[in-house]
Parts: sequence; C-alpha cells; structure tokens
Amino acid sequence: MRIDILTCVPALLAGPLSASILGRAQAKGLAELHVHNLHDYSPDKHRRVDDYPFGGGGGMVMTVGPLAACIRKLQAERTYDEIIFMTPDAPVFAQTDANALSLKQHLMIICGHYKGIDERIREQFVTREISIGDYVLTGGELPAAIVADAVVRLLPGVLTDEVSALTDSHMDGLLSAPVYTRPAEWEGHSVPDVLLSGHEARIHAWRHEQQLARTSERRPDLLAKFKADSQD
Ligand code: ADE
Repeated sequence: MRIDILTCVPALLAGPLSASILGRAQAKGLAELHVHNLHDYSPDKHRRVDDYPFGGGGGMVMTVGPLAACIRKLQAERTYDEIIFMTPDAPVFAQTDANALSLKQHLMIICGHYKGIDERIREQFVTREISIGDYVLTGGELPAAIVADAVVRLLPGVLTDEVSALTDSHMDGLLSAPVYTRPAEWEGHSVPDVLLSGHEARIHAWRHEQQLARTSERRPDLLAKFKADSQD
C-alpha cells in the first residue's frame, strides 16, 4: 500500500510516520508513506498556500493552485482508490473504515489548515471525507497520521503477532477484555485464576463475558449495535 499525504506543515507528520510500527512497516517494504509539502507547489514567490476568504470573515483559506497542482502530479503517476480530506465536518472514523481502507492500494490524504480548503477542491477531487471526532484541531495532520496508523497496522506482516489485531477493541464491535502479564501476584493483587488455568474454552468464555460487561458499562451505544447486528 502507498499513502500520499498533502500538507503545508510536513514537520507535524515526521515523527508519527517514521517511528515504531509505521517506521518498521516502511523499512520492511509493506507500506510506502510519502509526505508532500504544498508550499513546493505554490506559484507565488513567497510560496504562499492560503488567501483571504471571499465574502469576508476571519481566518485564511487554502487556495486551489498548490492543492490542484500536487493532486494532479500524483494522479498522473498512479490511480488513487480514494482521495481523502481530513475535516471535522464529516462522518467520524471508525474501525470498520480502517478495515475497508486497508484493502486499498493507493490512498491520498489532504490535510486542511487555517479555516479550511477552497470548496472547489472538495468538489473536483475528494472522494471521501473523514473526521476523527467532534472537536476541532489546528489542522488535518494529526488526524491524517491517525488514519495512516490505523490502516497500516492492519496490513499483513505489519504486526508481529497478527492475532492481536483481531482481538483489538472494536474489531468485533466490542471493547476488549482486560489483559495481564507476569508477575501473577503484585502487591496483593492477583491475576484472575481462569487466565492461569490453561483451559482454553473457559478462558475464551471469560474474555467474552468481560468484553460484554465492559462494553455495557463504558459504551452502551456499542453494545446495542452489537446485539442488533448479532440478531441479523
Ligand atoms: N481537522 C481539524 N479538526 C479535525 C478533526 N476533528 N478531524 C479531522 N480533521 C480535522
């Protein structure tokens, strides 16, 4: 998979994309992540990428020129399955979206900054808009890193213990069960006996019960959806 991220603040993406699991995924050749600096596509001698909004009002708007030039250059090189715009005015990203995107070959992600991007870019190029939650950040870079992380970790070979991606919270519509490791006894707090029993069926049943109890307590909205889906 290849992901191209378009931004006017590349420094915000450098750390999250190069460290830890995303860094290793690229080193192993499982994912290619490319960051494009929109200032490099500005026709302006000051490399500007924004301008005042028509109709007045506060804030600056990202202009069509650098965005269109960068998008078209990339589109001439390969076909993109999705051109995604990160924005708070969109459906909220969920595990099911990450699962679907992880099956694609080429993704482009546009990060907005300032007050937003000229609407004509959304109309002409964008195929999907994603919000990471109902709050407003200074730009789409951290949201883009979140989407890249959630997607790349699902690619075959990226996680060393692949079973762990399947047992994550949200993968089956429920929160995950608590986990423990050594020591079995710590300052008077012990690990639940069943986990030390070696009895696979009982452990599986216990984990499922814990998932249902946690989801009911912390995210009753998810439990209702899980029950409705299991009746289908
Ligand atoms: N840009 C600013 N806030 C955002 C959000 N919540 N989700 C996606 N992109 C954003």
